[in-house]
Amino acid sequence: MQTLQTTSLRVRDNQLFILDQQALPQQARWLEANSVASLVEHILTLRVRGAPLIGLSASLLLGLLAERGLDRAALREALETLRASRPTAVNLMNNLERMKQALAQENYVAALVAEAERLVAEDRLLCERIAAAGSALVAPGSRLLTHCNTGGLATAGVGTALGVINLAHRQGKVANVWVDETRPLLQGGRLTAWELRELGVPYQLITDSMAASLMAQGQVDAVWVGADRIAASGDVANKIGTYSLAVLAKFHNIPFYVAAPQTTLDPDCPNGAAIPIEQRAPAEVTGAAGSFGSVQWAPADARVYNPAFDVTPAELISGWVLDCGLVTPAQARDGFFAARR
Ligand code: MRU
Repeated sequence: MQTLQTTSLRVRDNQLFILDQQALPQQARWLEANSVASLVEHILTLRVRGAPLIGLSASLLLGLLAERGLDRAALREALETLRASRPTAVNLMNNLERMKQALAQENYVAALVAEAERLVAEDRLLCERIAAAGSALVAPGSRLLTHCNTGGLATAGVGTALGVINLAHRQGKVANVWVDETRPLLQGGRLTAWELRELGVPYQLITDSMAASLMAQGQVDAVWVGADRIAASGDVANKIGTYSLAVLAKFHNIPFYVAAPQTTLDPDCPNGAAIPIEQRAPAEVTGAAGSFGSVQWAPADARVYNPAFDVTPAELISGWVLDCGLVTPAQARDGFFAARR
């Protein structure tokens, strides 16, 4: 496989490495991800995370395993194990569906390698197109609010919502970015803050509960988020806390945009109620752990509810910015997403 480098994935000498997103921003630590077990472990612990990146890392590993001589049956088993690693982001399933077709070809080794490389190249292009389409919607002087992390760390390219924000900044249109810290795993506080700092985009970090009062004060001009799955109805699953932002934005008459590549579409899923939502460990809510150390504040036996994602109904979304451009609420109601089957 060719040498490859993105913000958080690296292929060198036929080895796959991932930038440990749990160690950021304190450490930039690259880890090997050369077996199914190690990559699944990295995905489960969110060292590799973000809807597009999960699918790309799984596809690259399959290509590398094919080159190392795994036979078709072993590759099929590896593919199914990777597919089951996280349930909500459909990019993983969509990417692996394409890898499955490559696996069915006669010369499956070359086909798997080529398909994995193509998926990475395509993701870069899709991110560029989303940024171009989305930045056109950003008015000069905008104060934007974003949630979770949707940047170069989460994709092979410039990111989705964060790619829009970065390009709009380079066009001189961004006055400030409000970054939700994104409890419980702090993707905003750890990762988006780090990326915006690297990019030189002005930002201020807030706790998730501060968004409402900022909106009430007229300090937010638009909300931009990513997506883990977009159903046929236009309902969107994204990081827990996205739905509350959409409700708040509606109440305060603030545009709420979702930016995502075509690999995030699931036209076979009728609506948000049918999207599987990952439930995660209580320890993520009873305390926090990372390269900054660990702390527990709740009673050890506290009962916890910890869904990793929520669903934002289509009626709260002002526009879906895809690589093919803006999808309006009227287009969504007319079956734009359902027609993608
Ligand atoms: O649990 P995570 O960190 O993988 O969740 C990520 C998100 O919810 C992102 O907003 C989404 O994957 C879009 S990334 C371009």
